[in-house]
Amino acid sequence: MRVFITGGTGELGGRLSRALVRRGHEVTVGSRSARPTRGVAAVQIDLETGEGLEAVSGHDTVVHLASDPFGKRQVDVEGTQRLVQAAAAAGVGHLVAMSIVGIDDHPSPYYRAKVEMEGIVENGAVPWTILRATQFHSLVPLFLDKRRRSGSSRFHQG
Ligand SMILES: NC(=O)c1ccc[n+]([C@@H]2O[C@H](COP(=O)([O-])OP(=O)(O)OC[C@H]3O[C@@H](n4cnc5c(N)ncnc54)[C@H](OP(=O)(O)O)[C@@H]3O)[C@@H](O)[C@H]2O)c1
Repeated sequence: MRVFITGGTGELGGRLSRALVRRGHEVTVGSRSARPTRGVAAVQIDLETGEGLEAVSGHDTVVHLASDPFGKRQVDVEGTQRLVQAAAAAGVGHLVAMSIVGIDDHPSPYYRAKVEMEGIVENGAVPWTILRATQFHSLVPLFLDKRRRSGSSRFHQG
């Protein structure tokens, strides 16, 4: 299968691309900093502008992992709209989008953007799957480091 991974240079994207290549799939990663590595093609895309999104053409599946954790709507909301349109125009067979567990009623701008992102995928013309995951373990050291640097005595995500 030919798989295009937006955000293929990120934490999950890197792991997924390597796992897919090991299983014999053809993988293209897309992001602003994407560079080809052994066995993985790369295309520079920018969801904020739509640059490079025509590259999804020729892929059976798009796995959408690109995201801006600071909640920039131009990436997660408007960028997903651009991606869904490009995938539909290219005749992509399936769109898999990654989201987060427990975000429905949360006020965080990032979580609001992720909920909107899900709606765009659900209402788009490409058959879809949305996966919601809990926070990755790699976030724990990041939060602890943030706490250390802020000198706060209680753990909280600000
Ligand atoms: N991390 C978690 O704990 C967690 C938990 C549940 C669900 N998720 C979801 O899983 C997915 C992957 O998360 P992750 O932690 O692996 O992400 P990550 O490491 O933060 O990677 C984000 C990716 O998005 C790309 N990106 C950012 N802005 C972009 C833009 N304007 N255009 C194109 N690409 C852009 C980045 O590449 P460039 O900077 O090179 O563009 C990078 O490849 C996300 O949808 C996230 O919401 C994450």
